[in-house]
Amino acid sequence: MIEGKRIVLTGGAGFIGTTLTRLLADRNTMVVFDSLRRNAIGVTGLLGHPNVSFIQGDVLDRDAVTAAVRGANICVHLAAIAGIDTVIKSPTTTMRVNVVGTFNVLDALTETLDSVERFVDFSTSEVFGSYAFRSEERHVTSLQPVGEGRWTYAVSKIAGEHMAHAYHDEFGLPTVSIRPFNIYGPGQVGEGAIHVFVKRAIAGDEVLIHGEGDQIRSWCYVDDMIAGIMLCLERPEAVGEVFNIGNPRGTVTIRSLAEKIVQLAGSPSVIRHIPKDYVDVELRIPSIEKAQRLLGYQPQVDLDEGLRRTIAWYREKATGGPPAAGAQVAPGAGAPDEWKLRHAVTGEATPET
Ligand SMILES: NC(=O)c1ccc[n+]([C@@H]2O[C@H](COP(=O)([O-])OP(=O)(O)OC[C@H]3O[C@@H](n4cnc5c(N)ncnc54)[C@H](O)[C@@H]3O)[C@@H](O)[C@H]2O)c1
Repeated sequence: MIEGKRIVLTGGAGFIGTTLTRLLADRNTMVVFDSLRRNAIGVTGLLGHPNVSFIQGDVLDRDAVTAAVRGANICVHLAAIAGIDTVIKSPTTTMRVNVVGTFNVLDALTETLDSVERFVDFSTSEVFGSYAFRSEERHVTSLQPVGEGRWTYAVSKIAGEHMAHAYHDEFGLPTVSIRPFNIYGPGQVGEGAIHVFVKRAIAGDEVLIHGEGDQIRSWCYVDDMIAGIMLCLERPEAVGEVFNIGNPRGTVTIRSLAEKIVQLAGSPSVIRHIPKDYVDVELRIPSIEKAQRLLGYQPQVDLDEGLRRTIAWYREKATGGPPAAGAQVAPGAGAPDEWKLRHAVTGEATPET
């Protein structure tokens, strides 16, 4: 376990950053740097932790970044524009934050090279393009056609990976890049199919699927993501490398995922298919062989168990109380309208990223 370190998390108020802060705060000095474009940390009480300080700042503000990372032993760079809906609406902001922001963080770290023991860059599995079957880190990444909005994100993230490697080679910065494959779990904010489906299932709303629902994804529970990050921070073998972090055993079609969530939530929600009007990733399954071999990474939480924990968390958040009794019984407990009154939360539709 890492202890006694000064750890700076850019984007630390987001889903993964908040989960990581919770794990590390008792034994380290945490600096959470975030613009609060999204905010998963606010409701957790972590900002009141004596070892956690919060800086509201933008990674595009080089001076603010320089001040935040000064003296850091570890920097985990999570700040990004993410989520395909958001990326398509704001392509220039995506490019600026993900490319210039990453450059600012890397460049600022060169002014504190004596203290830095590890820099972790967050890339994405989107770098493998539309069809990614058992994708390995050494496989060619895909740039996809200019003009198809979603790929702006992948291009910005692959630029970040190249930058991280450049700073490793040229300045000796101990960098690691992580490509997460569809992370889900308690505390998620923003977009993501599980986040949206669970919210709608708990509310008793229709669960909307874009297209036939035959898109295939491997879902990785957030604790397994955090275990992967910890290995990247602790293991010397990680330096200078890129790793897929995901769970190939959590592989399902989007239709099966929606059915599973409705059933596990004991929800009366109806699953409805709507037209798909965006470019999608049809198949995405990682190879995690490199992380297994070099780091000893092995995901532990299977999809059903992860979904049960996630549903329980959203239900507690929605009702302000513990999970409802009988939460995992078969659907159909009461008509949708009555059910909604008892489990009132809202959910918005989004592409199945
Ligand atoms: N969750 C996933 O499945 C997944 C998959 C692939 C890649 N990733 C990458 O992992 C990282 C963390 O993901 P997450 O799910 O926690 O995302 P998230 O959106 O919950 O967190 C990102 C955080 O970055 C902050 N941020 C955005 N722009 C900023 C700016 N200009 N300056 C400072 N902070 C800014 C946001 O406020 C947010 O709190 C991101 O880089 C994301 O692209 C996540």
